[in-house]
Amino acid sequence: QPKFRRDYQPPAYRIDHVDLHVDIGEGVTRIGSRLSIARDRAAAADAPLRLDGRAMQLQAIRIDGEPVPESDYSVDAEGLTLSAPPAAFELAIEVDVDPDANTALEGLYRSGRILCTQCEAEGFSRITYFPDRPDVMATYRTRIEADAGRYPVLLSNGDRVDHGTLPGGRHFAVYEDPFAKPCYLFAMVAGDLAEVADTYRTGSGRDVALRFYTDHGSENELGHALHSLKQAMAWDEKTYGLEYDLDTYMVVAVGSFNMGAMENKGLNIFNTSCVLASPDTATDGDYIRVRDVVAHEYFHNWTGNRVTCRDWFQLSLKESLTVFREQQFAADHGSPGVTRIEQVRMLRDIQFPEDAGPNAHPVRPESYIEMNNFYTITIYEKGAEIIRMLHVILGHEGFTRGVQHYLSEHDGGAVTIEDFVTALEIANGADLARFRLWYSQAGTPVVTVRDDYAGGRYRLTLSQHTPDTPGQTDKAPLHIPFGLGLIESDGRAVDLGERSLLTLEQPEQSWTFEGLSARPVPSLLRGFSAPVRVEYDHRTEDLAHLLTHDSDPVARWEAGQELALAAMRAAVSAYQAGEALPDPTALIEAVARLLGDPPADHELLAEMLTLPTERRLADQYAQFDVDAVVASHGHVKRQLAAALQTRVEDFLTGPSAGGYRFEPAEVGRRRLNAVALDYLAAGDASGIDALCLALYHDADNMTDRMAALQALRDRPGPARDEAMAAFAERGRGHALVLDKWFSLQATSRLPGAVARVAELDADPRFDATNPNRVRALVGSFARGNLPGFHQEDGAGYAWLAGHIRQLNELNPQIAARLVTPLAEWAQVAGPRGTAMREQLAGLAGASLSPDVYEMVTRALDQPA
Ligand code: ARG
Ligand code: ZN
Repeated sequence: QPKFRRDYQPPAYRIDHVDLHVDIGEGVTRIGSRLSIARDRAAAADAPLRLDGRAMQLQAIRIDGEPVPESDYSVDAEGLTLSAPPAAFELAIEVDVDPDANTALEGLYRSGRILCTQCEAEGFSRITYFPDRPDVMATYRTRIEADAGRYPVLLSNGDRVDHGTLPGGRHFAVYEDPFAKPCYLFAMVAGDLAEVADTYRTGSGRDVALRFYTDHGSENELGHALHSLKQAMAWDEKTYGLEYDLDTYMVVAVGSFNMGAMENKGLNIFNTSCVLASPDTATDGDYIRVRDVVAHEYFHNWTGNRVTCRDWFQLSLKESLTVFREQQFAADHGSPGVTRIEQVRMLRDIQFPEDAGPNAHPVRPESYIEMNNFYTITIYEKGAEIIRMLHVILGHEGFTRGVQHYLSEHDGGAVTIEDFVTALEIANGADLARFRLWYSQAGTPVVTVRDDYAGGRYRLTLSQHTPDTPGQTDKAPLHIPFGLGLIESDGRAVDLGERSLLTLEQPEQSWTFEGLSARPVPSLLRGFSAPVRVEYDHRTEDLAHLLTHDSDPVARWEAGQELALAAMRAAVSAYQAGEALPDPTALIEAVARLLGDPPADHELLAEMLTLPTERRLADQYAQFDVDAVVASHGHVKRQLAAALQTRVEDFLTGPSAGGYRFEPAEVGRRRLNAVALDYLAAGDASGIDALCLALYHDADNMTDRMAALQALRDRPGPARDEAMAAFAERGRGHALVLDKWFSLQATSRLPGAVARVAELDADPRFDATNPNRVRALVGSFARGNLPGFHQEDGAGYAWLAGHIRQLNELNPQIAARLVTPLAEWAQVAGPRGTAMREQLAGLAGASLSPDVYEMVTRALDQPA
């Protein structure tokens, strides 16, 4: 059942043009396709033509207008095979599909009153019989016909070339997309939608019509996304010299969507959570996410659409480069330091554990069962770190030149990661032979640092090792760019020149720095220059020094995280030895000093005051003790909170004059306010409940409202009850707000967590067919509530397994993602790990979708 990268074969038949007729009826939708097909010269004359197709009823099949005799083709559950078609012909097929019955949300499906599509990775084969692979590229002409009352808006890729009314209250529209594309970029939408339009004038003076669509009633929430799109279009012209290529760019918001958004050519489809935003419904974090996802999908027009992937093993080719471009864009439109820190936090909290667990896989995987399971943080974010290293190694200009060369060389093609790396080499005269190993080796490399100082000489030794991962042992040393600073006791940095970026490519290398008056403090892996774990026996006083003096925001922030982790680890040891938990004195002193001389960027300060997550603490251990982690994390936080109380009160702010503005200074102010509330609540400051309740009611925006709610979340009492009830009221009629309410409940640390989420299952507002709601309740609980999920009696695991079972039927893609928390069983110490494994074993006994099957099997296939 698995597919292997090494088995790649070019397609035997090309399809140059697709003519689609989509006839939307009551219940059933009839889809007619006419495909212009030609056999490849390299293929055998009797090569069969295989077309993928699932969940559809074949109604008719004709070659050059003649019905195909039954002896010449066969149909199975996965597709249709023509045994020996002519060398060049037109194939006409008619099928029926039922979008209303499609709960998998792949292919053509219904989201509320909207009919829409999702084809990546292999959803087009739920729309019609077709070779569902990205290296078959065709131009499309799409005619959609539907009831004019229910579906007044009809959209597809490209530009609308015709439309009109039909008898019986029906109407039609025809779209043409002149760019040849793989079928995963096909899209269509039909519905009663509100439209917000604008225009963008490109650098070369072409006017592009921008059209955003959403359900009636939420059109006032599209302004931020529209503005972000224009920023992204201008940025890509300025940074990479890339302009948009069609006359129309459309974005449609849908409420039921398996992921964030999709870059279909000229017709992006977005999860409402990644496009709608208003001060009253979206936090600053949501505003940032909307801006960046809008930019991401736009950037795909070049890195993904104009140049696409040959096969799905190359997914990271388009995703990593697009994520990196999105990251560059984000850094140019916000606080660059904080933007980077957030990326590092996510990588450490989620990607490092993935790379150390049963789902570890190379950024270019060797095999898969269900491609949808490979839209992972490794493919996306570790992939983007690889691109970032190339940017560091080649320099900004060399890198940009390399990307431009890659795009012009392969425009209109379906290519590989190897083609990309080669293009960068050619454009730069560089040799990236060793660097390529980043694409084939899984696992997070560990860089161990040793140093010594004597007589004005400082010697630094780095050694590297990449741990074994499933199916991969004995890894070769990688090319690791290692950012370095040396800071003197007065806080000044030594001028290192070129050696501010070390190149580690051997198992072990040393560097010597001469002429120093005293032992410098090393600032390691500056900018998080490579996705590695650094092991170094930090002195506490060095970390405190870095926390106040490091000019690199990432290393500076990291020093604080290390200090906090050291305090937490000490508490874990004491907890396990049955001793009293030690006071985090060094941490408290260092933070107090930081507050005496804080960075000017409030957002950065807020970030520095935010403790490492429980997940990161857990990830410090090969096997972690849930109780010890929760108790130690809580202990350090409470102690720090008690010590900081009077200091953080200064950061509390009320609503700003003039209302909500999404701009860096305001974002920083609100973030610091939230951090302050969080500490005051953790330290149990007197009057905190009343303060939060007042702030909740006074808030004129969602960010401040959520800050108050989060501070109240774990504090039983009338203030919490009142605020939560008021918030539920706000969620009435606004799905994204109600999602926030669900996730606050799911992450609350109040006792009885499992009973509470089980009660929410039965709440009429819970809807297992809506992925956002499932993520808000089930995902938030399993990933964001460590003590709740790991409740001692194992009820949290059983509850999650129940949801996986139910979703396995409804929506396998979403179900498979929920397996991950249980798949961590081998990292969880004691009977809990065993109980988690039992739930997985129970799932394995059921009849499973390929998606869930693959995740469960891999999870069970690890040594205890
Ligand atoms: N290409 C989309 C994006 O990153 C995501 C598609 C995810 N598809 C999936 N089957 N999970 O912008
Ligand atoms: Zn993407």
